[in-house]
Amino acid sequence: MKISPTFDQASSCVLFHGDCLDLLKQIPDNSIKLIVTSPPYNLGKEYETRLKLNQYISQQKQVIEECVRTLDNTGSICWQVGNYVNNSEIIPLDIVLFPLFASFGLHLRNRIVWQFGHGLHASKRFSGRYEVILWFTKSNNYTFNLDPIRIPQKYPQKKYFKGPRKGELSGNPLGKNPNDIWDIPNVKANHIEKTVHPCQFPIELIERLVLSMTNENDWVLDPFMGVGSTAIAALMHNRKAVGAEIRNEYLVIAKNRIQKALKGELQMRPMERPVYDPNQPAKNIPPKNIKINKSAQPTLLEKPGKYRVEKKK
Ligand SMILES: C[S@@+](CC[C@H](N)C(=O)[O-])C[C@H]1O[C@@H](n2cnc3c(N)ncnc32)[C@H](O)[C@@H]1O
Repeated sequence: MKISPTFDQASSCVLFHGDCLDLLKQIPDNSIKLIVTSPPYNLGKEYETRLKLNQYISQQKQVIEECVRTLDNTGSICWQVGNYVNNSEIIPLDIVLFPLFASFGLHLRNRIVWQFGHGLHASKRFSGRYEVILWFTKSNNYTFNLDPIRIPQKYPQKKYFKGPRKGELSGNPLGKNPNDIWDIPNVKANHIEKTVHPCQFPIELIERLVLSMTNENDWVLDPFMGVGSTAIAALMHNRKAVGAEIRNEYLVIAKNRIQKALKGELQMRPMERPVYDPNQPAKNIPPKNIKINKSAQPTLLEKPGKYRVEKKK
């Protein structure tokens, strides 16, 4: 696949090396269907300079304002954040950033709690095991496709016990709404998607957003792209991807992962796989539509959205 270094409507993948504000300036008004990102949290990680909180917020404001301008009227913004920590005191970034989004007239649809099992073990407070995704839309007329992201019913055989439909199955046979608490493993050392990036998205987290909030051929933007997880989730489902990354080291990895994904060679954790539970081995059996054996890893097929399992070489 040809990857364009600057925004080009005719391309299906744009990876910009530099400040996201410089990329955003190239993107026309109302052209992006979904903006999904995890910005720096101002924690002084290797890819950011720690700022005073008010400076950080005004920097975020500039980016958010440009994102709103480029967003399609039926589109969505998903801002994934955790806590800013100062002197062991936590400041949840969704709380401090919410007023910015509201000031641009966006509508909050969900505050999705992303919970995961691994992280630092705190000694003076409870260990943090969730972050949030603030999902905003630009208008009341927005794309939301529930069927592609339904999950298995808890009680698939449950039936109406009275009324005209007594005896019929009461749940949707396509599965249920995944609700606003998502239990998805974060990318730590043992995750098959792990790269050198200290905080990359699990691709399955973004797939759920892409499938529900966009249609095929729509543009998906990540202004703080890291190693390209958003772009991969978009491209594998036939959407167009655009992103900016300031560090060349990560950009190179992003390009490499995208090319591998499109050839079906990138190792990825499939959306359908249950979270591993060491106490209930039976729960770890994946749904019938994916087959996994001990010596196998899932890989992406060239046809986006489908998986196969290949033996490890
Ligand atoms: C939290 S990480 C995002 C990781 C990403 N979600 C992934 O899956 O790899 C934030 C990224 O933004 C990049 N970054 C920081 N400031 C930036 C800027 N002004 N423009 C573009 N990228 C920036 C950092 O280098 C870092 O890779």
